[in-house]
Amino acid sequence: MAGEKQVSGGGGGPRPALSLRNVECRYGDFVVMRDITFDVMPGEIFFIGGGSGCGKSTLLKNIIGLVPPASGEVLFFGRKANGVSEEEMREIQAEFGVLYQSGALWSSMTLAENVELPLELYTDLGAEARRALARMKLAQVGLAGAENKYPSEISGGMKKRAGLARALALDPRVVFFDEPQAGLDPLSSLQLDRLIRELRDTLGMTMVIVSHELDSIFGIADRILILDREERTMVALGHPRALLQAGDVHPRVREFLSRGGERGAEWGNVL
Ligand SMILES: Nc1ncnc2c1ncn2[C@@H]1O[C@H](COP(=O)(O)OP(=O)(O)OP(=O)(O)O)[C@@H](O)[C@H]1O
Ligand SMILES: [Mg+2]
Repeated sequence: MAGEKQVSGGGGGPRPALSLRNVECRYGDFVVMRDITFDVMPGEIFFIGGGSGCGKSTLLKNIIGLVPPASGEVLFFGRKANGVSEEEMREIQAEFGVLYQSGALWSSMTLAENVELPLELYTDLGAEARRALARMKLAQVGLAGAENKYPSEISGGMKKRAGLARALALDPRVVFFDEPQAGLDPLSSLQLDRLIRELRDTLGMTMVIVSHELDSIFGIADRILILDREERTMVALGHPRALLQAGDVHPRVREFLSRGGERGAEWGNVL
């Protein structure tokens, strides 16, 4: 497989935020992906890419425990997260946030109420403390003053940011995103990318982002893992520009990263 060497979890180096070891994803007898092994280091902005239908969302669901992997191991900060008791899973899930496609906000609740929901479910905080925290999280994503708005009253970009505020409610160490730029205009998409990078820079959060958007990939990814539908496994791992410049990269990786011309090669400080 093309790309840099796997980062080793052992040997006294920093412990990975997320590790997958020989993960196999399937629906019944249908194998979507096998032999998925990689580490994400704390503070990394790590993308999972690949063509349509290759299994990006499925892999994400396996990682966050919505669908258990058929085999292999998922570890958060060295702690096994699959095949564990429901109680352990709940503890682990409280350490990460997820931004689902469309933001997945409850339309009958205000933005503040949406952000308070995980606080109600996972903490013993009283109503006042929850409201104060919700206000703070909304401010963190640039939505100060929008606490009492309903999702139908705000733009798509604002919905994504409100979804992100909710994902941040429990101060997660890792945030997962499934196609966060889907349905956004280029400017809102750029603003969301900037916000993701700013949160990483200021809070040291680890970001794992499923996306095929080249602007985002070349704009903010530290590394990208590329899945392939035909090979049914990962075919590249590394910095997107380094992958594009590598001589031995899988042809479909080159194709994926150079859609619309070899623009990745010129991608510089667009953010
Ligand atoms: N619940 C399911 N049951 C059976 N097969 C499924 C299920 N969900 C997805 N699949 C199949 O698994 C494969 C991977 O789908 P997945 O949605 O993970 O791909 P993706 O890379 O996220 O695609 P996209 O780019 O369109 O979002 C596809 O062949 C899909 O048809
Ligand atoms: Mg998907």
